[in-house]
Amino acid sequence: MSAASTSPLLQVEDLHVSVGDREILRGVDLVIAEGETHVLLGPNGGGKTTLLNTIVGLPGYRVTGGRILFKGTDLVGLEIDERARLGIGVAFQRPPAVRGIRLKQLIEVAGGDGFGESDMADLVGELSLEKMIDRDVNMGFSGGEMKRSEMAQLLAQAPDLTLFDEPESGVDLDNIAVVGVAMTRLLKAERVGKGTRSGLIVTHTGHILEYVNADIGHVLYGGKLACKGNPLDLIGEIGKHGYDKCVECAICQR
Ligand SMILES: Nc1ncnc2c1ncn2[C@@H]1O[C@H](COP(=O)(O)OP(=O)(O)O)[C@@H](O)[C@H]1O
Ligand SMILES: [Mg+2]
Repeated sequence: MSAASTSPLLQVEDLHVSVGDREILRGVDLVIAEGETHVLLGPNGGGKTTLLNTIVGLPGYRVTGGRILFKGTDLVGLEIDERARLGIGVAFQRPPAVRGIRLKQLIEVAGGDGFGESDMADLVGELSLEKMIDRDVNMGFSGGEMKRSEMAQLLAQAPDLTLFDEPESGVDLDNIAVVGVAMTRLLKAERVGKGTRSGLIVTHTGHILEYVNADIGHVLYGGKLACKGNPLDLIGEIGKHGYDKCVECAICQR
């Protein structure tokens, strides 16, 4: 268990979400305390990305029931940028390309007023951004370059809660290590040093957990969080028995 404080940062209560005319999430309950990192597992098409995108506030995800409280404020109805200002950050599985905006400009915007030249130089060095920093965001970037670009934006933004959608997908081993180190730094608040940070990581393979410590794992199954436990134990159980059996497994703490 996490040694961090238990005050809840994110409280998702009985969340129902529809995409088009299909109900994807059917009563999700999730509490993430300050300083905790949670892992979200589940079969393809189960709604993991839907949950992340709904918290972030992307259009097309219709909340038909329940609440999403962040620092006590209900996010439902707030715009994406309002949620970002409250302290929510996201690393998308496939981040969009942005023609006409250079990576350097986006990092400066993400960093805000306190972000200076030396912070930029640190990020460029640490994430090997030299060949990308003056290019349009994600235009022609490789999988690894895209992830490093996203990590740079997030480190500059320093959100209180960061959502990662399959951070290891499409990334080779060298880049997973770099991404993992950046994630750990994000979640440990080493850059800005203002309080403890929280995270929610969607992963299929669990590879990223070789680089990032996580406190609690959940399995999203049948539109709900059906199982909860130690993340590595859950991944082991799923590897042996598949998702169907995992829901009835002995290690579940729900
Ligand atoms: N924008 C969308 N339009 C139509 N269907 C969608 C959209 N986003 C998600 N879905 C559907 O919602 C279900 C859950 O998808 P998703 O949240 O991406 O699952 P996961 O991330 O767990 O693989 C899938 O059946 C998917 O086809
Ligand atoms: Mg997904």
